[in-house]
Amino acid sequence: MSKRVAIFLSGGGSNMRSLVASMTGDHPARPALVLSNRSDAGGIAWAAGQGIATEVVDHRPHGADRAAFEAEIEARLVPYGIDIICLAGFMRVLTAGFVTPWQGRMINIHPSLLPNYRGLHTHVRALEAGEHEAGCTVHEVTAELDEGPVLGQARVPVLAGDTPDALAARVLEQEHILYPAVLRRFAAGNRTPLYLP
Ligand code: GAR
Repeated sequence: MSKRVAIFLSGGGSNMRSLVASMTGDHPARPALVLSNRSDAGGIAWAAGQGIATEVVDHRPHGADRAAFEAEIEARLVPYGIDIICLAGFMRVLTAGFVTPWQGRMINIHPSLLPNYRGLHTHVRALEAGEHEAGCTVHEVTAELDEGPVLGQARVPVLAGDTPDALAARVLEQEHILYPAVLRRFAAGNRTPLYLP
């Protein structure tokens, strides 16, 4: 039986699109749900247009009550019988209360070569530090932000004159290759890290 995947996002969802596109044929998983904290996320409209189930859980009515926000997400997931959660540009921090029960079944893509540059503004920080190399990481999600066992990494060069946007675009191209490759392995039970190129 195919694994049922929920993809969480907050924005345009280009990673979500690459994951959805990959889950065909003999792939061991299928997209079952796209969930966002923002009703105006481009990825939600796209997924709905593809006939994929969507859910929006707005974080704002919950204010600082992250537990209530997360309980609402958990409740929305139940009817879909989700096996794996892929965070794909989901810009809300999830606490241990949500993460711990999903540990081992939830993965994330982060736009840096972890453990370097956890958190936000990774490309600005990498350029300011004079890095010669950047990249992205797919990892299992644990209660610590951008920690958790690495499942794959892809590297790109930093070029002379790079801006954060130029570097982000170069890394994003690799994200679209790395994340589907890692999800396919992960859904088949393979957690050996994949290093690209
Ligand atoms: C991606 O670059 C992803 O790595 C990053 O947000 C972008 C989402 O783009 N994620 C994070 O920064 C998580 N901390 P997308 O909506 O086009 O997939």
